[in-house]
Amino acid sequence: MSVHFGWYAVMPLAELGVGKVKGFRFAGEDWVVYRTEHSVHVTENRCQHLGGRLDRTGVVVGDRLQCSLHGYQFDADGRGERKGCALHQRLKALPARVHSGMIFAWYDPAGEAPRFDLPALDEQGWSPMSFRVVELETQPELIMQDLVDGAHFETIHDYRNITYKKRPTFEEHKLSIEVLFDWDTGLPAPVNNVPARFTSEAHGLGYQHTETWSAGERYHTRHLVLPVPVDENTTRVYLGVCARVHGRVGRLGGRVLQSAAHHFIVAMFKRDIARDARLWVDTYPFETTTAPDADVAAFREWVAAFQSTPKALQETA
Ligand code: FES
Ligand SMILES: [Fe+2]
Repeated sequence: MSVHFGWYAVMPLAELGVGKVKGFRFAGEDWVVYRTEHSVHVTENRCQHLGGRLDRTGVVVGDRLQCSLHGYQFDADGRGERKGCALHQRLKALPARVHSGMIFAWYDPAGEAPRFDLPALDEQGWSPMSFRVVELETQPELIMQDLVDGAHFETIHDYRNITYKKRPTFEEHKLSIEVLFDWDTGLPAPVNNVPARFTSEAHGLGYQHTETWSAGERYHTRHLVLPVPVDENTTRVYLGVCARVHGRVGRLGGRVLQSAAHHFIVAMFKRDIARDARLWVDTYPFETTTAPDADVAAFREWVAAFQSTPKALQETA
């Protein structure tokens, strides 16, 4: 399958204890992720000795992954050896890192090293990022297209009086926007028509984060939308959310109210993001439709820049 190069979510770090190995499907192939005391690593699932399924046979030994069938050990670059005898073929290994509580792997069909990094986010004062995951029949590019699909802010999200503080802007691997709006929550006053703004950034097709300020900038939420191409028809989407409250928190009663407001805002935004799934699923694949609007057309050109040719194809070209 054709996958755009970029960083893609593997699984939340909290789901992988130190010394654990877990399998996952990504880009039409089977992979494992394992965690040593100090780092995380991603390799193909197939042991290069006699094909052991490492999600079942792999154990972490120090900083290596050992296949328990015949005892070959693999280092972070996928080199395998047993009793001084090295395997000819390496395990395919992907660069991996942890960001915002999520394990990410860099994938490039051409096998190139990472061409960009994920943005540094301030962690001070934020609640822990909580993740949920869904698998949908869609493509990562349809999910990322939300950022340039201005009309859906009103029809799907019920945002009113929308003003762009920053129109969709494309800078190399990064797409960003900033929008002011009144949020028609569908609830009675005073939690209706809430003045709000959001900034969103996509870094490649596997990473998007949005920060939203509401109620006079007091409530600040951060969402991650992390599409992962599983196979031709399926995309796994990790949705992360966390929040922080600006301003002083008063006595106990004040703190309880703050906490309730905080949970309410997070729940509202979870509902809001869930609505996007309609756009992602109820739309024909990206390539089969034309792009009548300038922002979407520019977005599709930007997406095309993340294509890279697998090494095997380059060599035979
Ligand atoms: S199959 Fe993995 S060590 Fe032999
Ligand atoms: Fe949306």
